[in-house]
Amino acid sequence: MTQTIAEAINDLFVNYKAKGLMRDCGPCPMCQQPMMVFVNTQTGDDRSLPACPSCGYKESNGTKQHHEDLSVNALKNDAYNYLVNSSAIGDTDVLNKKFSNYQVVNDKQAQAKALAERIADKAASGDVVHGIFSGATGTGKSHLSMAIVYQVLEATHYKQKIAFIDIRELITQIKRGFKDQNIARHYDRVLDKAKQADLVIIDDLGSETTGTNSGDEASRFNLEIVTELLQARMNKSTVISTNLTSNDLINIYGERIVSRMMAHSQGYVMKFDELADYRIKGAV
Ligand SMILES: Nc1ncnc2c1ncn2[C@@H]1O[C@H](COP(=O)(O)OP(=O)(O)O)[C@@H](O)[C@H]1O
Ligand SMILES: [Mg+2]
Repeated sequence: MTQTIAEAINDLFVNYKAKGLMRDCGPCPMCQQPMMVFVNTQTGDDRSLPACPSCGYKESNGTKQHHEDLSVNALKNDAYNYLVNSSAIGDTDVLNKKFSNYQVVNDKQAQAKALAERIADKAASGDVVHGIFSGATGTGKSHLSMAIVYQVLEATHYKQKIAFIDIRELITQIKRGFKDQNIARHYDRVLDKAKQADLVIIDDLGSETTGTNSGDEASRFNLEIVTELLQARMNKSTVISTNLTSNDLINIYGERIVSRMMAHSQGYVMKFDELADYRIKGAV
């Protein structure tokens, strides 16, 4: 009986497997055919690293790690792409803000950082959390919000979809979209994704009210967009930074939305009031 070499090798493996000298060990990453390892018949332990009889691929000691690195890198790219394509960011400097470059030189900063880390842990675990950072401008609210983004991405091995929405920028771009279809389409998608993402930072909530008088057309338009977003985030993890007090929030967005958001925020609210403007007075 004539046999091709591949058939002869296959017969050999079938024979080895039947004798317990080899076992299948999952699909080959190159050709998807079963890979094999030699087995120690005395102990049952593997005697070799997996190899593919079909295409000759061999796993080396570093290969498994290499594959894990590749898949984490692919997820990392996806997560960063999602972040970039689903965010509204006015000042891109915020993209450089991490826990590692947040300085702690007083108790209040230590508390703020610890709280932000707890919010990140909770969001990464998949639980719904609403973090609220309130207080004056320049006190580090946006910095810590972005630090949470990077922390959650890392802790979840880049599996969460996260968006950073600078409210003023979102409104500005949506308005620019009135005159430019491409911009309109892009920010429609940004708003949609911000409603669905696993975690969203709503940065500078309330900034959309400055320069408008409540009740006028611009103010109603802004309120409609922001309310739509807040409503979508009521049961999804969200970090809000704002200059507004809780009474202001209730007056602007209504008791119903604000109290629903507060329900998930117990223990995750930080008033940055006692922190000086970092840009003017330095870190103390
Ligand atoms: N503790 C800190 N360590 C390092 N930089 C800080 C700290 N607090 C604030 N900053 C920096 O000061 C600037 C203003 O902070 P930001 O987070 O934008 O304030 P807010 O959002 O409260 O207005 C940013 O450049 C930020 O990185
Ligand atoms: Mg800010």
